[in-house]
Amino acid sequence: MGGERSVNQVFQRRAEEVQQQGFGLSVDVYSPNLFELMSRFEHAPTRPAYLEIFRAAATALETVTRRIIGVSFAYHGEGLWITQPDFARASHVHDELDDVISQLHILTSPWLNHECATKQMAGYSFGTYLPPLYTVESAKIVADNIEIVQAKMDERRSPGQNFGPLFLLEMPPLTYFMAGTLAVPTYFRLVADLTSCGLVLDIGHLWTVYRYSTASREMNLEAFVERFLDEFPLERVIEIHVAGLAPHEASVSRGHSDRGHPEWIDAHLAPIPDVSWMMLEQVLAHPRLCNLRGIALEVDTKPMEQIVNEFQYAHSRFRSVIDRCLSHHLQASDTVGSANEGRTAPVACDVDREQLVAEYAQYAQIVSGRQPPIGPNWEAVAADTVGLRRYIHEYLPHEILHWGGDITDMFPETSRRLNETGLPLSQFVRWWFHTPRPVDQPYDFFLLKIDLLVEFVSEQAPALLSLARQEADVLRSAYMDANAHADLEALAESQR
Ligand SMILES: [Fe+2]
Repeated sequence: MGGERSVNQVFQRRAEEVQQQGFGLSVDVYSPNLFELMSRFEHAPTRPAYLEIFRAAATALETVTRRIIGVSFAYHGEGLWITQPDFARASHVHDELDDVISQLHILTSPWLNHECATKQMAGYSFGTYLPPLYTVESAKIVADNIEIVQAKMDERRSPGQNFGPLFLLEMPPLTYFMAGTLAVPTYFRLVADLTSCGLVLDIGHLWTVYRYSTASREMNLEAFVERFLDEFPLERVIEIHVAGLAPHEASVSRGHSDRGHPEWIDAHLAPIPDVSWMMLEQVLAHPRLCNLRGIALEVDTKPMEQIVNEFQYAHSRFRSVIDRCLSHHLQASDTVGSANEGRTAPVACDVDREQLVAEYAQYAQIVSGRQPPIGPNWEAVAADTVGLRRYIHEYLPHEILHWGGDITDMFPETSRRLNETGLPLSQFVRWWFHTPRPVDQPYDFFLLKIDLLVEFVSEQAPALLSLARQEADVLRSAYMDANAHADLEALAESQR
């Protein structure tokens, strides 16, 4: 890979091809009901200029682009676990990439936004994002994996384009802890020095970095944001996200902690708090924010009226400053380059990769409560284990038992009989992490829950196996049916 200067130049050339998107919303194709939402905006003073859509079935994306007119579309990817050292070796990755690229084409998206996070690690699966290890080796692997994805997107670029959609790496949220030896902005600076990707700065995620790193004990929020932005590669930020923050539902009753900061985590359902608007103001005022192409409120799962109100509020409060930021592009220093420029060999060597394989195996063991937090990456966590313990004992069990499919609703009879035989579902949580398993299929947490519950019953309560299988079969066929026949056309028609 070339030196920092050439990586930055390649980025700048790529960024020049990314059209301005304006002020928009980041949504899921089914949630909220996009057709109803957009019809509500018809009566509002302003409507979103673009919709960033989370990965979904191709037919659903096609319906959305056909039915919603007057806005542009961008793409929020999922399932490309680029933080992981075995990313390129996973057997299904190339199929996943083909799928992602065809979705990018359906939306004519200028970018592929993907979290710098994973839901699968060292053969273990989780329901929500786990941040990377913040280390030098991990930054190198991320840069190499982004190069693989970007090369594939460039290869399949649209006619007349010099580049494929730009890979945007989103800084992920912290959920009560972080591990590694680098500060978060230093890590992203390192990635940006090694690959020509763009970045997404998520204001709510930034708040969680303050809250769940040592910063919240050392300085106030404003000073933290100022220091963070000085180090973070803000000139690479193509998009800003703003979303709600709230306590997790498994810990709502506890309220504030001893540090005086609420125990909020990233929560798209929740209102956007004042503190996020203030942080946004601070970010937008920064002189190095010179390549911004869009700002989106992330609103999947939020009540519709609140979406419209928050959008109007943000638009009237920030319109002039957003317009100024969007219009002030740096020009590429010379002529437009080609997709092959600036790329050479991977930066991570085999030793880095092997080290990281071992470190992520340890990471999975630690966050599932099977090993103590030991070693240089876990020093800060070991010094204050409150956050990690909250993750292990509250967040993770909730994720496995309730999030993305409640086990007692999915398997009502099996759950009841398990309980009667003295095997409460808490045993299933422990069992979930008892052994790693090969990750050889596209990630689907709902299907994973079904498979693992049946396996758990077959090992721990074989007398209930046929019952569990029956309930699993019903779930799988209902799920496939729902995916195949989810009729977005009918939903769109009902809003006409
Ligand atoms: Fe985000």
